[in-house]
Amino acid sequence: MKLEKYISEKRKIVDKWISAYLNNGSEHPLSEIFRYSMSGGKRFRPILVISAAEACGLNAENVIPAAIAIEMIHNFSLIHDDLPCMDNDEYRRDRETCHKKFGETEALLAGDGLLIEAFNVLSKNTENSNISPGAILKVVELFSRSAGHLGMTGGQVLDMRYQGQKRIEAEVLEEIHSKKTGALITSSVLAGGILAEASKDRFERLKLYGERIGLTYQIIDDILDLGEDHQTISFPAVFGLEKSREMARKATEEAVSALDIFDERAEPLRQLAVYLLNRSS
Ligand code: IPE
Ligand code: MG
Repeated sequence: MKLEKYISEKRKIVDKWISAYLNNGSEHPLSEIFRYSMSGGKRFRPILVISAAEACGLNAENVIPAAIAIEMIHNFSLIHDDLPCMDNDEYRRDRETCHKKFGETEALLAGDGLLIEAFNVLSKNTENSNISPGAILKVVELFSRSAGHLGMTGGQVLDMRYQGQKRIEAEVLEEIHSKKTGALITSSVLAGGILAEASKDRFERLKLYGERIGLTYQIIDDILDLGEDHQTISFPAVFGLEKSREMARKATEEAVSALDIFDERAEPLRQLAVYLLNRSS
């Protein structure tokens, strides 16, 4: 299996679904901002939903709404994260951030709209698929918990509170990152498992895999961002560059071993873990 080919194929599928969804003919006040903010990402989280489902024997078509929903939640978080009251960033994905292009008020509302719409999309996952309403409900529970105060939102609060501090404790850094970034990544993997009705054993392995790649993802992100602003809350700042790299390598090994009870259908997940470790953008 060639991972680059796999990623580009899946990304194309995800882009097609998202575009069809955002251009479904019913325009609303946030259509343009939704389209702007939902374009250009790596689609890493939706690809994880698909790859985890496939590893458990379920086809991609069955998880379309969950995959779009997690990408919407992710994009909502990026819009709000960039706002002047948060990171105050002017550029993302090589173009202006949402608030710079559309103004703060509309950006804030577009973020709200995307987060809420994610659950609307997800609730429709039973249409044209064999997914049971009970499984969808579990994914609603999962996504709402991992995006909320116990997950991403809570992590962002801590991130903001610790801004400006010269040093932070290793445990605090790990807590911030596992909530802020890790929670959505783990949930993407778990959503695939839930929708595929994975056994308890497999579900636990997917959870471990998700947590480990979430950590790798964040460490590598911090290393790639070295030299940019807001750098105290980062793995290289707290652990040093070499130790951070070592942590990412170890987490990747653990992620791959977690999948040893799966067959070859988990090959994309295994290779994705290594790809995340070695990525350069
Ligand atoms: C960026 O996420 C923000 C973090 C959580 C570190 P991604 O790197 O997945 O962003 P896009 O969607 O590909 O732009
Ligand atoms: Mg931030």
